Amino acid sequence: RRRCALCPGCAIIGKIFGERPAQTMRDQFGRTIDYMRLSITDRCNLRCRYCMPNGVQPLPHGDILSYEELLQVAATAVTLGITRFKVTGGEPLVRRGCVDFVRRLKALPGVEQVTLTTNGLLLAPLAGELAALGLDGVNISLDAADRRSYAAITGFDGLDAVRAGIDAALAAGLKTKLNCVLLAGCEDRLVPLARYAEARPIDVRFIEVMPIGAGAAQPGPGRDAALALLRAAWPNLHPVQERRGNGPARYYAADGLTGRIGFIDAVSHKFCARCNRVRLTSTGQLKPCLCYEAAADLRAVLRGNPDALTQTLRQAVFQKPRAHCFEDRTAITERRGMSQIGG
Ligand code: GTP
Ligand code: 5AD
Ligand code: SF4
Repeated sequence: RRRCALCPGCAIIGKIFGERPAQTMRDQFGRTIDYMRLSITDRCNLRCRYCMPNGVQPLPHGDILSYEELLQVAATAVTLGITRFKVTGGEPLVRRGCVDFVRRLKALPGVEQVTLTTNGLLLAPLAGELAALGLDGVNISLDAADRRSYAAITGFDGLDAVRAGIDAALAAGLKTKLNCVLLAGCEDRLVPLARYAEARPIDVRFIEVMPIGAGAAQPGPGRDAALALLRAAWPNLHPVQERRGNGPARYYAADGLTGRIGFIDAVSHKFCARCNRVRLTSTGQLKPCLCYEAAADLRAVLRGNPDALTQTLRQAVFQKPRAHCFEDRTAITERRGMSQIGG
């Protein structure tokens, strides 16, 4: 719910004086933009083959927005109508102070939802604290359910740690989803991954590889091929019209599954017409679309002319492109990798 204009902490006065209407921000195509992904670091403790198999030169700390700067952007975004935030990386939990940052972000007046996307390696000891501070959900990357494939894809023998992270998230009561990228040769891995949705309320999402960063050289199967394989195990897997987050995933249910199976099928089924988001890279570049390099340099504004933050943000959102151009490689201008963009 929206907070009161007079006293952001008090719902009763809000009822008497009327609630402060948050602005609604629309882009040039009339889409409402109310969600921002915040990449808080470019660093990661994995080397996923479709993301940064050989690592990347980590950026100097001074190039990365401080938590104070990130909160300043978020506070400004809220006044414009962006009320839901996704904290990403690289791997967000490798940045010292991440949990406290999530706490402060969640506590900002007007912030309605904060979720986290993580590789899960460092999650187990933090899940309870994250749940207690009000985190609204966690998405955990998991590309294989067996140890050997997991290590081959991510470059690290970390499956046990991720599984502990998943268990801890569920035990803490966090809404939990898994992300699996559909890589070439993944066919045998899909059903074992989908089984995570069998007994527990976990949504398992399969993501088509997007031609960004190392993913550009690694095409994989699409949604339809994955669906066919999953239907061999769950014949009545059928679409459901449920919104289970803020993202583009479409969900399917089946007898025998407690959670849902989701697909993020940006390559085979463009969903840009219902896009609701912008992205802030860890260096403070506000990207209106994943596919294009164009970005507003909020770091320069924050450090040079903070009074211009609102206007710069509004303008960047307004200019959001109509759609991605994954089908035409020559038109993709983004050269940063996913770990620099934040997914
Ligand atoms: P939920 O609200 O939890 O469903 O979040 P989400 O699915 O948006 O977030 P997550 O960080 O788990 O991202 C999952 C995958 O979706 C990643 O591969 C993202 O790059 C991709 N993704 C998220 N938003 C978009 C988008 O607007 N366009 C495209 N093409 N891909 C997106
Ligand atoms: N295409 C699709 N998804 C990707 N991710 C990283 N790189 C790509 C890519 N090229 C996923 C990660 C993580 C999420 C944030 O983005 O697996 O789950
Ligand atoms: Fe790290 Fe995520 Fe990239 Fe994998 S996909 S290397 S977990 S940033």
